[in-house]
Amino acid sequence: MAPSKNAKRATAISLISSIALIVGLLSCPNGADAVPPNKIPHKADISHPKGQSPWPDYGEIPKVNTPEVKAWVKAVNWAKVPKLPIRPVEHLGDPPECKGEHKGECWWTCDMCVAPDDVVDCPGKNTWGLTFDDGPQTGVTEDLFKLLHEKNVTATFFVTGMKSSKGPWLLQDTIDRGHHLASHTWSHSGLTTLTNEQIVAELMWTQKYIFDHTGYKVKYFRPPYGDIDNRVRGIARELGFKTVIWSNDWDTQDWQLEENSITPKEVIRIFKNDLDELPTRKKGVITLEHDGDQKMAHMARTLLEMGIKKGLKPMNIAQCMGDKVGYLQVPAPAPVPGKTPPKPAQQPHQDPASSAAADPSTGDKMDTTLGTLPAGDVSKQSAGIASSALSLTGLSAVCWALVTVVTSLIL
Ligand SMILES: *[C@@H]1O[C@H](CO)[C@@H](O)[C@H](O)[C@H]1NC(C)=O
Repeated sequence: MAPSKNAKRATAISLISSIALIVGLLSCPNGADAVPPNKIPHKADISHPKGQSPWPDYGEIPKVNTPEVKAWVKAVNWAKVPKLPIRPVEHLGDPPECKGEHKGECWWTCDMCVAPDDVVDCPGKNTWGLTFDDGPQTGVTEDLFKLLHEKNVTATFFVTGMKSSKGPWLLQDTIDRGHHLASHTWSHSGLTTLTNEQIVAELMWTQKYIFDHTGYKVKYFRPPYGDIDNRVRGIARELGFKTVIWSNDWDTQDWQLEENSITPKEVIRIFKNDLDELPTRKKGVITLEHDGDQKMAHMARTLLEMGIKKGLKPMNIAQCMGDKVGYLQVPAPAPVPGKTPPKPAQQPHQDPASSAAADPSTGDKMDTTLGTLPAGDVSKQSAGIASSALSLTGLSAVCWALVTVVTSLIL
């Protein structure tokens, strides 16, 4: 027996609505995540045949006997870098153990010693420097973007060069979404265990990688494991970097979630104890979180909500430092037809408060193929990004309204 007319009609209706829904899903931009995709191909940079990549290898300390590193090393004023012992480790790249004498070395890892120009806290009361280390990580970084967009805040992402080479498009995504990119070295090795040349290679290859893929030359750098002493600082300053650690005790320990050496409850308890200390704190804080796996991204939401509830104002490190540019160099804006392009400006000067800072002119010895912008133009660019995101959100609403109307007309 043939199916009744009504049954046929019901099937047709459900078929049409499913098609309309699919068309809507595919064609309507997602308002919550409305930043136009960048044009960088979504593929790793390490797909080169072995030995033919223009970049250092994944998970390895960059080689120092290359023309690039030799040029970078030559440009450093080594008279300004203290001669300190290279710390021994069993496996190269591991963080060093706290052994032996280290007076006058200002070694953070073991003595919690900070230099006057190390950034450890955000200066303003209740300001919260939100930082995520060790990314970018496909499938996790995007979730953090969504979370931060939802809360209308931005963060600093301390990326490693090696991870960037697995997801270079995520670097541009980070900037397009208004976040702040900073360096966490190439291979995430304990820097006090490396030679001067290796430290230069770690810092400069990462800066070059980010620059070549975004046009932004990073200024802020965080030593892996916080492993920094006056030798490492001297090199970083000479190359124009500003060192960022994190607030004493505000390491969330979230990275341990991945290997189950800590429970989510414990991470929350540690953070709650930190938050309880807030009323007596004059300065703001810088937290340490990681861009590693879903558990960490999930925890980031919990901690963000806890901190906001206690009155912390989350922001990226450049913002909390009152640094309008946040980079040593940013791309020149696209030329407007009929207008003469603006002259490249000097890079922003370093914080005069840090007497130990290097001569600003030394920060920019490398490639200068792109012009720089005076302070303020970055915020204009971000405003442009924000408004394009807004119009996309509007577009999304209009698109969905159309799909709904068409669907109801058909039915
Ligand atoms: C998002 O944050 C910016 C700056 O922090 C603020 O000007 C804006 O009003 C906020 N938007 C919403 C929807 O809260």
